[in-house]
Amino acid sequence: MAQFIHKGEEKKKYVKQMFNDISKTYDLINILSSFGIDRYWRRSLIRHINLSHNSKLLDVATGTGDVAFGFFKKYNCSIVGVDIAKNMIELAKIKANKYNGNIDFFEGDAEKLTFSNDSFDALTISFGFRNLGSYDTALSEFYRVLNQNGKIAILEFSKPKSFWFAPIFNFYFNKVIPLIGSLLSRKDAYLYLPESVDYFLTRQDVCSKLKTAGFKNISYIDYTFGVATLYIGEKSE
Ligand SMILES: C[S@@+](CC[C@H](N)C(=O)[O-])C[C@H]1O[C@@H](n2cnc3c(N)ncnc32)[C@H](O)[C@@H]1O
Repeated sequence: MAQFIHKGEEKKKYVKQMFNDISKTYDLINILSSFGIDRYWRRSLIRHINLSHNSKLLDVATGTGDVAFGFFKKYNCSIVGVDIAKNMIELAKIKANKYNGNIDFFEGDAEKLTFSNDSFDALTISFGFRNLGSYDTALSEFYRVLNQNGKIAILEFSKPKSFWFAPIFNFYFNKVIPLIGSLLSRKDAYLYLPESVDYFLTRQDVCSKLKTAGFKNISYIDYTFGVATLYIGEKSE
């Protein structure tokens, strides 16, 4: 039985408050709980989106900005990061001080983006999609703000497929991570995490929602026995 709300405005309100509250320990708990593998997943996302110095990238649900900074280091292009949680954005802005260039962070909702149609060459969302109130509303916004031939990349947790790895991972994800979270952060945040993955879409459902939103050339790649999945698509007529 669900302990948390998994769609709609109530979910959005809960998620926003939660990330505001856990912002200070967010990066640390990511590294500790994933043994640094989360960095490899984000690097894989960055490897799959080819940009140039002239490209414009929107990183939605940017959090403390690590995907945005990864792209900036590689391409020195124009980057905007948006997140609904003010405290996450504040940390991204502090981290951005060491970079000199066109990289900006704003508070904003993925489901109501404030950018004009056809504004970006690529849109990324890493471990944020699962947390949205309405996947369909967000995907139609993502499609709207992307240029023709613009690329979308969604990195998200999945249920591991490997029959020997899944039980080990499930124990770690459902028992150990909440324990680490309760010691260092807001306890319910790290109970919400495994439950939100449980209630998240299947790989096929994500692909079919991308298709319904208008995206083409959709594919996905699993990482680390299917713990994380990268979805790629393209806006093309
Ligand atoms: C797990 S964090 C991921 C942060 C970052 N992308 C990363 O890879 O570490 C999820 C982020 O999604 C943000 N978020 C959740 N719902 C959102 C929404 N509707 N619009 C924008 N950001 C949202 C949260 O505030 C949080 O910072």
